[in-house]
Amino acid sequence: MTAPILEARGITKSYGHVRSLQGADISVDRGEVVALIGDNGAGKSTLTKILSGALKPDGGEIRVDGVPVTFDSPVAARRHGIETVYQDLSLALDLNPIQNLFLGRELPAKGLLGRLGFLDRAAMRQAGEEAFRSLSVRIPDMRGAVANFSGGQRQGVAVARALMWAKRLVFMDEPTAALGVAQTRNVLDLIRRVRDSGVSVVLISHSMPDVLAVSDRIVVLRHGRRVATFDAKRVTSDELVGAMTGTLELSGAA
Ligand SMILES: Nc1ncnc2c1ncn2[C@@H]1O[C@H](COP(=O)(O)OP(=O)(O)OP(=O)(O)O)[C@@H](O)[C@H]1O
Ligand SMILES: [Mg+2]
Repeated sequence: MTAPILEARGITKSYGHVRSLQGADISVDRGEVVALIGDNGAGKSTLTKILSGALKPDGGEIRVDGVPVTFDSPVAARRHGIETVYQDLSLALDLNPIQNLFLGRELPAKGLLGRLGFLDRAAMRQAGEEAFRSLSVRIPDMRGAVANFSGGQRQGVAVARALMWAKRLVFMDEPTAALGVAQTRNVLDLIRRVRDSGVSVVLISHSMPDVLAVSDRIVVLRHGRRVATFDAKRVTSDELVGAMTGTLELSGAA
């Protein structure tokens, strides 16, 4: 059996007296969509930030392809092919969509100009426009600051940025929270396409229909711990809500 592409065991994290994660576990196989669900404050975003290098855990172990790793920055996680759509989106609001796509990964100009620090703006614009087009993410103004975009349009930029760079795994923390019906369907389609290309997805969502529609496996967090894992084909919305709130008898589910 091959090792999971990403596995976390016994992750702990406290903020002062608040114990956000109390030994959380999750594993993701190649080409799999895993939904990570739980009530508000269950620790989903905290776990996501730890597994994408944005936050340091207090304890626990992370493995990539079975090999222990420490992510001391998002750059370290990206080097392993892991990208993230953060719940707060983490866009640079004063920059335009193309600049956001290439933020921290700008393409240098060719030759001497590149070595002098000049950027290949034309190449970035072309590749960026192509990325938005192929992902069917509609952008109102390629040259306008993202600050002037709607919530849904900003979410589109953040999703496109993660999908454009992800080689192994993409975390999506509430990627459809600000989206209407058609745009939500588009993101769910994107998740399936990404999965079919061999890149895994961890989807965090409060929408049980979305979770059931797109995921292969569902991990439930409660009070900073994994309390259940379900096969998405064999679970009902009521059972998921029961596991999230602690009213479901979980014999055999974990
Ligand atoms: N920066 C922080 N400082 C202090 N406490 C925090 C911080 N971030 C998270 N917490 C606490 O950690 C716990 C878990 O928060 P987290 O954001 O991971 O939950 P969540 O499952 O993502 O919730 P939601 O569904 O509301 O997004 C909460 O009790 C929260 O108040
Ligand atoms: Mg959250």
